[in-house]
Amino acid sequence: MSLPKRVVLVGPMGAGKSTIGRMLAKELGYRFLDSDRIIEQRCGANIPWIFDVEGEAGFRQRETAMLGELANEEHTVLATGGGAVMRPENHPLLKKDAMVIYLKTSIEQQVERTRKDRNRPLLQNDDPEAVLRNLFSIRDPLYSGLADIIMYTDRKSPRLVVRQLVNRLNPRTPRHKRQIRKEGRNHV
Ligand code: S3P
Repeated sequence: MSLPKRVVLVGPMGAGKSTIGRMLAKELGYRFLDSDRIIEQRCGANIPWIFDVEGEAGFRQRETAMLGELANEEHTVLATGGGAVMRPENHPLLKKDAMVIYLKTSIEQQVERTRKDRNRPLLQNDDPEAVLRNLFSIRDPLYSGLADIIMYTDRKSPRLVVRQLVNRLNPRTPRHKRQIRKEGRNHV
């Protein structure tokens, strides 16, 4: 079995997509891409600002355009925003040449990991836990439906999750081959 051209991480806010994605990319010798961070760089503004000025609809438009662009980037690990699965037109963009991994995480963990965060507009309200619960009920079937691998992350360190993912993706990739890929790639 050879490695997929792209690895795409989906899952809710606080699932650890960015942390795990960055570490996984390093292990595979792939470039790490984070769609939210690239949207912010391109826009010259952070996500709360984009939500404020353009509304969620404006952000979703940018997100779809970004996923379309990044769908052509091979040898990459892509961390997506938690809502990337909401638009059906995003689904083929997420799946293109990719192994899609759902980082599945309990509501308790999501609450804990996003508690002090000010960069997630959907959680800036009196009851972020209720929001996370509601989003989970809508999105969990979408994440599961798109995923080639469902990986539970509760009570696991990012290191352990990455090790388990590497084994699932390609148990036989020898270290020296990963090193060659690593040397040939730059970050976007
Ligand atoms: C969102 C998740 C965020 C970001 C935006 C909307 C969502 O990304 O895209 O705030 O709809 O769940 P993370 O999942 O990386 O927090």
